[in-house]
Amino acid sequence: MSSNTLRLTVVVASVREGRFGPVVGDWFAEQARRHEGFEVDLIDLAEAELPVALPATPLRMDPDPLRPAGMAELTASLAAADAIVVVTPDINNSYPASIKTAIDWHYTEWSRKAVGFVGYSGAGGGLNAIAHLRQVFAELDAHTVRDYVSFPRYYQLFDADGRLTDPAVHEAAAAGMLDQLHWWAVALTAARTAA
Ligand SMILES: Cc1cc2nc3c(=O)[nH]c(=O)nc-3n(C[C@H](O)[C@H](O)[C@H](O)COP(=O)(O)O)c2cc1C
Repeated sequence: MSSNTLRLTVVVASVREGRFGPVVGDWFAEQARRHEGFEVDLIDLAEAELPVALPATPLRMDPDPLRPAGMAELTASLAAADAIVVVTPDINNSYPASIKTAIDWHYTEWSRKAVGFVGYSGAGGGLNAIAHLRQVFAELDAHTVRDYVSFPRYYQLFDADGRLTDPAVHEAAAAGMLDQLHWWAVALTAARTAA
């Protein structure tokens, strides 16, 4: 990797017992490494300490509050990232509370960065979670890219070993989204550096 390689943090959003999320996260991280445009860091929210009680002052006004020790790895990865991809299921037609909490504990770590999505779930394919997250990230001044990867009824698409039975379509979707994410990450990183 060259010294100016962009950094991508892939966030596995679900912390549910018995979750499938890490399989999708591992698959996407592998696609991102193959893309070769990013240095990839895979972060699992199940390993982070994520209290729902936020600091008194909005993060936009006090962007570096005292955070729980168990949040340090997440915060450091987001701070270093030029782009972030959230791997999310639909939970009751939206995103899981864990990713909202992770978002709300940060501001500058998201701001003016490129954000992409990989969705999976039942019939919804993560699309409602993705649509709702776009609204949330607008408030964080992050740029969400148009293209995404979706796995509706993922249990019909992955085999028992966690491998896609027919990978071509989703690999192409991931490559397209990563190209778009890379374009925006280059532009936004240059703009942040110049500002
Ligand atoms: C409480 C709950 C609500 C859910 N709501 C939806 C939903 O609205 N739409 C959908 O397509 N799937 C829904 N599902 C299915 C989940 O997307 C599916 O269980 C998925 O595996 C969850 O991700 P995880 O296994 O990584 O936790 C729901 C699952 C749970 C547990």
